[in-house]
Amino acid sequence: MATRDQKKRIPLFPLVSLLCFASIFFVLSFSRRPFLSRQTSQLKPNLISHPTPPSGSCNYTQGSWIYDPNWRSERYDGTCKEIFKGWNCIASNKSNAREILKWRWQPKGCDLPPFDPVWFLETYRDTNIGFVGDSLNRNMFVSLFCALKRVSSEVKKWRPAGADRGFTFLHYNLTIAYHRTNLLARYGSWSANANGGELESLGYKEGYRVDMDIPDGTWANAPSFHDILIFNTGHWWWAPSKFDPVTSPMLFFERGQPVIPPLTPDVGLDKVLKYMILFVEKNMHPGGLKFFRTQSPRHFEGGDWDQGGSCLRLKPLLPEQVEELFSIKNNGTNVESRLVNQHLFKAIEGSNFHILDITHMTEFRADAHPSTAGGKRHDDCMHWCLPGITDTWNDLFIMHLNSIKVRN
Ligand SMILES: *[C@@H]1O[C@H](CO)[C@@H](O)[C@H](O)[C@H]1NC(C)=O
Ligand SMILES: *[C@@H]1O[C@H](CO)[C@@H](O)[C@H](O)[C@H]1NC(C)=O
Ligand SMILES: *[C@@H]1O[C@H](CO)[C@@H](O)[C@H](O)[C@H]1NC(C)=O
Ligand SMILES: *[C@@H]1O[C@H](CO)[C@@H](O)[C@H](O)[C@H]1NC(C)=O
Repeated sequence: MATRDQKKRIPLFPLVSLLCFASIFFVLSFSRRPFLSRQTSQLKPNLISHPTPPSGSCNYTQGSWIYDPNWRSERYDGTCKEIFKGWNCIASNKSNAREILKWRWQPKGCDLPPFDPVWFLETYRDTNIGFVGDSLNRNMFVSLFCALKRVSSEVKKWRPAGADRGFTFLHYNLTIAYHRTNLLARYGSWSANANGGELESLGYKEGYRVDMDIPDGTWANAPSFHDILIFNTGHWWWAPSKFDPVTSPMLFFERGQPVIPPLTPDVGLDKVLKYMILFVEKNMHPGGLKFFRTQSPRHFEGGDWDQGGSCLRLKPLLPEQVEELFSIKNNGTNVESRLVNQHLFKAIEGSNFHILDITHMTEFRADAHPSTAGGKRHDDCMHWCLPGITDTWNDLFIMHLNSIKVRN
């Protein structure tokens, strides 16, 4: 596995390893985990240097995908057991399953190198990392798991703090977990009460009760367990197949009471985001790091998922195609991608969450979904093949993590 960055490493300084990259050469030192300091943690003066973005000079969301067949070796392959069958494009023989990996995101003005899994495990020893959100966050979680498992196979599988899945890399005492939640807030089905009520008097018979101020039980304990959290939500707010505005609407509750007049889902989303961000800020230990990942774009063309829409492209989109598909003013099939982000950016403002902005870079990658290889009756133009694009999300996440460490 001689990847390009490994070849460029200058090894074996005592206590210090240096990584350098052709276009950006910079070296920074820091004490291990200064930002994660729990009362109990012993901070040893362990100097490690690592790649970080030059502060403030680069916007990773702007750039282009470059075809570069030699740019890296596979960090894992289709044999990683954690890959959900529908996402395993190599095993299901998707024609471009390996081509997907030959495109490299080139940000304008800097580089986004692949993270080094061994270095990552060493650096984030004794750390708990939680992914909280829908199946797209699981997709990202699996990518990280597979990359780490490849270099450190001794894992304990368990479900920490109510997680859907979780693994501890025993040699490093590093835990990663996935907490499944569609709306972040708790919800459940609702039917009219025979004795009446405010919603009943407005004519509601069936729907979903969404308690805007109560976190879903699957992750309520995550902030007190994890040192680093990565959130997402979005797809389920724009999923009329489940939350049909007429036959099964979202009915929002606050402090146990229905909100009257009823809110539309986009207003409900704003309130849920506010409540959930406050909840996390209150319940996470002071050094904990919180990320909100922006919306993962879908690429249905020729109709939505239930209208025969497909994603048959074998190459990334051109910039003008991206605008045509995603610009809000075109109001196309996948318009929710940028709409969700507007809500998200507004909610995050003034909080101490970090934004992990993957949307624009991912908008280009119409080629990287399972498509017909997903094994469903309809094309899967929402999730991502693994290995694939969420590997790059993790590169960005880890780059961001390192830059925060250095700043503190
Ligand atoms: C980065 O670029 C995106 C897209 O042009 C823009 O929306 C965003 O505000 C920029 N971020 C920063 C930190 O400048
Ligand atoms: C993929 O191709 C291999 C080799 O041709 C074959 O054995 C396997 O059954 C195929 N898998 C699927 C899901 O079609
Ligand atoms: C493993 O890491 C956790 C913190 O994430 C810490 O509480 C625990 O003591 C560590 N265990 C060992 C054996 O070091
Ligand atoms: C966008 O398109 C959908 C149908 O595809 C329509 O229901 C909605 O009203 C449109 N929104 C705007 C702002 O034009």
